[in-house]
Amino acid sequence: MTLNVVILAAGQGTRMRSAKPKVLHPLAGRPLLAHVLAAAEALPQPKIHLVVGHGADQVRASLANARVDWVEQAQQLGTGHAVMQALPLLDPDAQTLILYGDVPLITPATLTALLQQLTADAVALLTVRLPNPTGYGRILRNPAGEVVAIVEEKDATPAQRAIDEVNTGIMALPTALLARWLPQLSTGNAQGEYYLTDLVAMAVAEGKPIATLHPASFDEVTGVNTRQQLAELERSYQRQQANALMAAGVSIIDPARFDLRGRCQAGEDVTLDVNVVLEGDVTLGDGCTIGPNCLIRNSVLAAGVVVEANSLIDGAVIGPECTIGPFARIRPGTRLAAKVRVGNFVETKNAVVEQGSKMNHLSYIGDATIGAGVNIGAGTITCNYDGKSKHRTTIESGVFVGSNTALVAPVTIGRDATVAAGSTITKEVPAEALGIARGQQRNVDGWKSRR
Ligand code: UD1
Ligand code: CA
Repeated sequence: MTLNVVILAAGQGTRMRSAKPKVLHPLAGRPLLAHVLAAAEALPQPKIHLVVGHGADQVRASLANARVDWVEQAQQLGTGHAVMQALPLLDPDAQTLILYGDVPLITPATLTALLQQLTADAVALLTVRLPNPTGYGRILRNPAGEVVAIVEEKDATPAQRAIDEVNTGIMALPTALLARWLPQLSTGNAQGEYYLTDLVAMAVAEGKPIATLHPASFDEVTGVNTRQQLAELERSYQRQQANALMAAGVSIIDPARFDLRGRCQAGEDVTLDVNVVLEGDVTLGDGCTIGPNCLIRNSVLAAGVVVEANSLIDGAVIGPECTIGPFARIRPGTRLAAKVRVGNFVETKNAVVEQGSKMNHLSYIGDATIGAGVNIGAGTITCNYDGKSKHRTTIESGVFVGSNTALVAPVTIGRDATVAAGSTITKEVPAEALGIARGQQRNVDGWKSRR
């Protein structure tokens, strides 16, 4: 059985004061709308309709790969009007679930529970009791406790405004009923809008039962209207993610200073110091230690890796017991075998490094293949770019590269060779040879007194 899902995302989001549509503002690194979509996609057989209006082109472009039907609401005449635009596309025999593009943290579990309240004849509403209900539609109940209507804040009497049970906006109902009631909506209210919420009174007038459910947490139904609310929801979400990681055996020194913008798979006894940011898909093996102020993106770190403070690791595979940083920049295509050491102010890119090699200070190693047990002296640079193309540097196992060496690629340094400090190497250095390519020192005696 399919499920129609209608996600409302046509509103302007004026209070964000942004050129970007509100639903594209990121929470944990993904657009608000992408979170809602993910929740909808987790439901059984969803047929998803996205109602867009303000910034529709931007929204469409940013979610170009989403498997949804796009519905344009040219003028925002209210939530009821928005759903009406999607109506012709809905499967009339299925149930319809209404979601909001700016309520990002709704969970599939809560939605599933809400849908379980539905029969062929009922309306299911997600409601919540709020200490401060200002701004929300209030849930009106009769003395028997049955829902009789929703009244919007702007239409409510002072007594109704005192009600603390509010409409989250999320509801589900049989599409046949939706199709019957939507055309009966009118704009006779304080905002002159077609209120989706008026369906509730229509249902009651026909004697249909209104089922209600509360979400597991406030965050699930918190909408984003301002940047401040977005930041608060971000912190709350990050706290949940940190809690989940800690429950799985990760030590987070200060959960208030931790950000996961994607997914993290972590082994046992991983320690994250303050201001660690993980982006995309990150795997941290058993016993990894990440120092303060590190960003790790789309990378796999094997067991026992130590990342010292202020390092960036992006698109890399780091072998067991490597030591990275402080102040290292590991760029995409870096593959380090076990026990490699990359120290301060070292940048690597497209670099494959075998076991136990070291580059401890101030180097750029790009487009390079480095064998095992290699020592790269301070200030070694692979000159991989000739202004037109990139070239590869190959350094075989056991090589010692002296400090301040420029390796002009393409070039190979043979096994167990030595490169003298300060060399500019443009030709192959054979195995076990010494490559030396620098100006000869000349001393001028008595230089000072002659001047
Ligand atoms: C709505 C509910 C209110 C509920 C509140 C929860 C109605 C009439 N009121 O009020 O009971 O407490 O949400 O947050 O439904 N949208 C469109 N097209 C439109 C109008 C809105 O797509 O023409 C979208 C907005 O982009 C937004 C959502 O619908 O994502 C809610 O619209 P908003 O104007 O924020 O509704 P509220 O007045 O907050
Ligand atoms: Ca709102």
